[in-house]
Amino acid sequence: MLDFLGSLQRTHTCGQLRAEQDGQPVVLMGWVNRRRDHGNLIFLDVRDRTGITQVVLDKEVSNEAHAKAEAARSEYVVAVKGKVRRRGAGLDNPNMPTGQIEVVASELLLLNEAKTPPFSPAEDAVANEEVRLKYRYLDLRRPQMQSNFALRSRVAMAIRNYLVEEGFLEIETPFMTRSTPEGARDYLVPSRVHAGSFYALPQSPQIFKQILMISGFDRYFQIARCFRDEDLRADRQPEFTQIDLEMTFPQQELVFRVVEGFLTAAFATAGIQLTSPFIQMTYDEAVRRYGIDKPDMRLPALTDLTGELTPELREQLKIEQRLPVIGFVIPKAGGLSGTQRRALTEEIRTGFGDCGLDSLDVARLKTNAAFATLANAIESRLAAEPTLEGGVTPEDLIIVVTPKLGTPEKWNYDPQWIWKRVGALRLELAKKFADKHKLFDQTGTANDFKFLWVTDFPMYEWNEESKTWDAAHHPFTSPHEDDIKAGRLTSDKGAVRALAYDIVLNGTELGSGSIRIHRKDVQAEIFRSLGMSDAEAKERFGFFLDALEYGTPPHGGIALGLDRIVMILAGASSLREVIAFPKTAKAIDLMVDAPTPVSDAQMRELHLKIASRS
Ligand code: AMO
Repeated sequence: MLDFLGSLQRTHTCGQLRAEQDGQPVVLMGWVNRRRDHGNLIFLDVRDRTGITQVVLDKEVSNEAHAKAEAARSEYVVAVKGKVRRRGAGLDNPNMPTGQIEVVASELLLLNEAKTPPFSPAEDAVANEEVRLKYRYLDLRRPQMQSNFALRSRVAMAIRNYLVEEGFLEIETPFMTRSTPEGARDYLVPSRVHAGSFYALPQSPQIFKQILMISGFDRYFQIARCFRDEDLRADRQPEFTQIDLEMTFPQQELVFRVVEGFLTAAFATAGIQLTSPFIQMTYDEAVRRYGIDKPDMRLPALTDLTGELTPELREQLKIEQRLPVIGFVIPKAGGLSGTQRRALTEEIRTGFGDCGLDSLDVARLKTNAAFATLANAIESRLAAEPTLEGGVTPEDLIIVVTPKLGTPEKWNYDPQWIWKRVGALRLELAKKFADKHKLFDQTGTANDFKFLWVTDFPMYEWNEESKTWDAAHHPFTSPHEDDIKAGRLTSDKGAVRALAYDIVLNGTELGSGSIRIHRKDVQAEIFRSLGMSDAEAKERFGFFLDALEYGTPPHGGIALGLDRIVMILAGASSLREVIAFPKTAKAIDLMVDAPTPVSDAQMRELHLKIASRS
């Protein structure tokens, strides 16, 4: 028989009691985390989101409460009335904040029972992810998940408070709108009233926030839900949350200061003191030094070793003459055996050598009189790399990538290609060795979080499939004034830089933004340069082009992924750890089982017919 709560009031949470409360009468409520039966004494660990308290049911104190505890099982919901008692000498549990006390129960209410769960929220071992997502309510009871969502809530609140203090207004923008230009596929909502017409869910509030600037709101922000139908990865969900902001009359530095301010406030809620301003690097420099536009600054940069190889050496080592030789170091991952080193060389050759890359084994070169000087020169060049603070030691892994003889076609049209390829190898190898050598283990200091601004992105991106130029950010991004004046929009699209910037943290793009185009003539020109006819631009963005003609101030902004910030801060490896009800990689919600077919009647109402179910 289950008990009713009646008028019983909770006095404390399960994480609250300490030795100072010794002797105090208390009422706790929560879930049975574990139950240990020692005959006349039964121990129930009672859990809520704040922690766990040990409750003792002593037959001598209350026979009735003891009998109920015999019936209690894991995940039962209970209320306990009792007295706090300092634990006996040597019985403290230093692993629990409440470990100095226990509650001696005079009364126990069994408020609800629980079936044996498919996995125990009390266990550290994590069940398979499908089971976790199907029984998300149990998964979310796990202390790690509770702590992730407490963190998320604190982070969002700190950001909101900061922005409001800085004069930003929080304004909501519609979910049911028309297609927004972030480049992913839209989620569509069919209209019942307008047969054959659809709303699109916003991929971002981009156009609306620009309109709000035209409307004179000066500083806007929103913690906004966005929807994108795109291939999912660990750091991508179909619906996600942006910290979206826009401001009137900004230089990009002003946007940077605002973002640094709210990130500093957000990280402080997790006890991490960031120092700002964050470092900045142009896109070109990022690609040249790291082979990627979102460098992971926890690892040393790439080093150009081209100057170390004479034409003769290249010939002897069968290295392509015209292309760079690039080296890098993975700290702590050295000390490989001969066999392991050979396997790694083979892996680079086959895994990354599809376009003709190979590698030099510096340790082996050292043992060969003809190449020992080269090997030493390479080592000292690598050690001089400023991002490699402690120099190179035998504990570190040195990789030197060499292009094989013969120039693969790809390198001809993208000179940055080899840098990008080696940049990818650097990350792949770091990932491979990360666990073993604790490369990225968090120490709880600001050192774990390496922020970076990447600036001056290219305005256009060549689309090999459609053989067209696409907007690298979105088509409302302003090109550099100099590039407009020099006529590069038409003459040399590949060289046009945008007033676009990204904020990067530990190799993840946290956010993107730009100074926008505020003049109609420039906006129309950009649409044209993206291969959009005037008629098409009018059809898709006519309302916006019109709005630009009514006194649009210069404006700019940015959006950061809130989910990604919390994921990194929590040390999690997937957004699913920080989104309460996420979707699988196939965009399914396993708990509610969505998406689902709908009834014929609904389909008729929406004027829809399914053409095929494959
Ligand atoms: P962008 O498309 O770069 O820019 O998005 C900004 C940030 O949003 C996050 N993000 C995602 N997070 C999780 N899942 C996804 N599918 C996903 N897609 C994006 C990332 C990304 O950096 N309107 C512009 C911003 C602007 O110009 O102001 C925009 O949306 O952290």
